[in-house]
Amino acid sequence: MCAKSSESTSSSAESVSSSGETLTIERMTEAHLPEVMRIEREVFMPGWSEEAFRSDLGNPAALYLILRLNGKIVAYAGMWMVIDEAHITNVAVKPEYRGRQFAKRLIHRLLSIARERGCVKAFLEVRISNTPAQKLYEKFGFRPVAVRAKYYDNTEDALIMWLEGLDTPEYGQRLQTIEQEFR
Ligand SMILES: CC(C)(COP(=O)(O)OP(=O)(O)OC[C@H]1O[C@@H](n2cnc3c(N)ncnc32)[C@H](O)[C@@H]1OP(=O)(O)O)[C@@H](O)C(=O)NCCC(=O)NCCS
Repeated sequence: MCAKSSESTSSSAESVSSSGETLTIERMTEAHLPEVMRIEREVFMPGWSEEAFRSDLGNPAALYLILRLNGKIVAYAGMWMVIDEAHITNVAVKPEYRGRQFAKRLIHRLLSIARERGCVKAFLEVRISNTPAQKLYEKFGFRPVAVRAKYYDNTEDALIMWLEGLDTPEYGQRLQTIEQEFR
């Protein structure tokens, strides 16, 4: 885990939009896995196994969040925090709920928690063809630094994206600016 530990990650934030919709972000537990697995299979075909999620949920270095819209899980994201590095491992939004800033909210929350836990940098792998995800991560300051050949299914390359300075006041300001986009 990253060095500091001050944030209560079990807390959920609720916001009601002008259309009366209720959004909540909560820590993922095993009870959420049936719904999460339905989304995982729909989005990644087949994606991670339930066992892989279960194993990460039991890993103290891992943190997974779900986003509910009017009570229904529509998105989730997760990361590992090791020493001073956060590794974003998974982000998925149900296809019919995309373009509504849900992934942005989740990544914002993950990186805020990583900062509070003392992480100073973050990285992830993303398919070279996955422009929407790359744009999402660029928004948060991730930059491509390397290519991992045939990382996915031994066919598609992965782009490795890095973010430095997560602990700086400037990055805190960046997160505040991004938050204005979904508040
Ligand atoms: C990538 C994904 C998570 C984005 O989720 P989303 O909730 O639609 O994204 P948001 O509405 O929060 O958009 C946030 C930012 O992402 C980028 N983005 C999202 N969709 C995009 C698209 N279709 N084209 C280009 N940029 C896009 C934009 O920068 C956007 O910021 P903006 O609205 O200020 O322009 C979603 O498309 C998804 O689940 N894809 C399949 C799973 C996946 O690829 N996961 C990532 C694996 S590394």
